[in-house]
Amino acid sequence: FDVVDLIHTKRDRGTLSTEQISWLVDAYTRGYVADEQMAAMAMAIFLNGMGRDEVRDLTLAMIASGETLSFDGLSKPTTDKHSTGGVGDKITLPLAPLVASFGVAVPQLSGRGLGHTGGTLDKLESIPGWRAKLTNDEFYAQLESIGAVVCAAGSGLAPADGKLYALRDITGTVESIPLIASSIMSKKIAEGTASLVLDVKFGSGAFMKDPERSRELAETMVRLGTDAGVNTVALLTNMNVPLGLAIGNANEVRESVEVLAGGGPADVVELTVALAREMLALAGQPDADVEAALKDGRAMDTWNAMIRAQDGDPDAALAEPKESHTVTAEADGILSTQEALPFGIAAWRLGAGRARKEDPVHHAAGIDLHAKPGDPVTKGQPLFTLHTDEPARFERALEALEGAYSIADTPPTLTPLIAARIA
Ligand code: URA
Repeated sequence: FDVVDLIHTKRDRGTLSTEQISWLVDAYTRGYVADEQMAAMAMAIFLNGMGRDEVRDLTLAMIASGETLSFDGLSKPTTDKHSTGGVGDKITLPLAPLVASFGVAVPQLSGRGLGHTGGTLDKLESIPGWRAKLTNDEFYAQLESIGAVVCAAGSGLAPADGKLYALRDITGTVESIPLIASSIMSKKIAEGTASLVLDVKFGSGAFMKDPERSRELAETMVRLGTDAGVNTVALLTNMNVPLGLAIGNANEVRESVEVLAGGGPADVVELTVALAREMLALAGQPDADVEAALKDGRAMDTWNAMIRAQDGDPDAALAEPKESHTVTAEADGILSTQEALPFGIAAWRLGAGRARKEDPVHHAAGIDLHAKPGDPVTKGQPLFTLHTDEPARFERALEALEGAYSIADTPPTLTPLIAARIA
């Protein structure tokens, strides 16, 4: 094939064949198709979309670009969760050990944060000694013995996606349903999990602001998973407000441990429990008493074992910030809005996130919220506290938060955290 012909086809709203997509992805992975050509193709797909068959073919071609894992040798069923990313989204931390405490294997191959969304590995690395990188043998052994593994994804799974995602990131072509769906699902299918629960976010702090577009993304991903033999379910969840009370790294670990101890903020518990139920149902345990495992210490025991297996000390003190700054309520009333995106950006500017892939994150940096929308507040009451190791960062963080929250006389209309289930 000639890549320029294929670009013309997509530019002019035509349809690419299975053979053409397979050739394109292979040639791009090997470097025969140049970045500028693939960028033009990504923009044509972004603008003109793709049909069902094309999205499936793109996903399969990206899977075929690398290795695939298999869990056939394990004595337990596997189930996995993927979130499209949000502000304060630490759910993987309590969820993986909770589900694993029922004798199910949870292989969470995770990433690092870039921009305002945090990364699970960055959060866990605030635990002294904990390491994200495991050998293949360590990974399988830990799945068999403990069940829960959160570790770095090797570059061997869907390498075509790694290359294409980096290109999309710098060419304004990230927010495309066919491209996001094939990107996420190629990695999850290549990982070899038998079942998968997707947490697809919508709202201010999500990729897809619009609930209808996030529904379409969820439906596309569920279809891709199901067609590839992975039992897939999605929950559509609200990311207009940060999840929980902690946004950062070490503070998100602390909040996760509270959930594992049977406490924690109501929204974090609600989502953890809902996702655990879905995962366990797919793994053959529809009646598992998930709440009991949080209350009686089973989930906590699995967490401690999971952290120790990766050389972390679950009892060690977590990093404390050098400087903190608390913002208080300017008036009496009810906290009305608290927008996820600006809070995510502020935490990032405080040092919790990174601007470039190679930057370090500051584990103690971030934001602790003291009130959530709907809570009554009185003048002078703390609303949230910013933490950083570099006080010069406060100013830009506070700038991001201008207009990000408001106090009103009447209660806000609160929308449910879990908006829909798609199977
Ligand atoms: N996450 C991914 O892995 N890929 C995307 O395209 C978007 C989010």
